[in-house]
Amino acid sequence: MAIEVREPRTQQELDLYYDLRWRVLREQWTKSRESGRDEHEQDAFHLTAWDGPKLVGTGRLHFNTPDEAQVRCMAVEEAYRSTGVGGLILRTLEQRAREQGAKFIMLNAREGAVSFYRKHGYQLMDQSNTLFNLIPHWLMRKDV
Ligand SMILES: CC(C)(COP(=O)(O)OP(=O)(O)OC[C@H]1O[C@@H](n2cnc3c(N)ncnc32)[C@H](O)[C@@H]1OP(=O)(O)O)[C@@H](O)C(=O)NCCC(=O)NCCS
Repeated sequence: MAIEVREPRTQQELDLYYDLRWRVLREQWTKSRESGRDEHEQDAFHLTAWDGPKLVGTGRLHFNTPDEAQVRCMAVEEAYRSTGVGGLILRTLEQRAREQGAKFIMLNAREGAVSFYRKHGYQLMDQSNTLFNLIPHWLMRKDV
């Protein structure tokens, strides 16, 4: 399986990106498609992973300060999980953070994703917010 990781190129690809993000990260808990969007969408670096014409994963990077980048919106289609797609996306976002001068990356990890981020060198900093009063998150950090 050759996975291509790149920025969305068209409005249609961007729409698919927002749709996958929402389906994987939000649909179970809310019908609002806007709920996962935040104030960083305009300036963020959006990343998509493709298996041929099929969108299979997403990730996003934005800057909180010139030194601090943040990863959000990591989502992989269920059938493609544990095959390395998430790792590919995360490494590409880290590369982008380095190129743009970040010194470290922060993220809020869902409990089920903590071991994934640990494997990629992220350290647990603190317990973070609890989304929809149901999904505990952990603040994690990696120097880049
Ligand atoms: C978290 C998530 C983005 C990770 O993406 P992924 O594509 O599954 O990640 P990878 O395949 O690179 O790695 C996942 C695991 O599979 C293992 N793996 C990687 N390649 C593998 C392969 N070829 N064969 C078997 N296992 C493999 C990795 O070691 C890793 O193990 P771990 O979970 O114990 O750390 C994805 O599982 C997901 O979308 N989950 C639901 C939404 C979510 O929780 N998002 C994160 C919000 S913070």
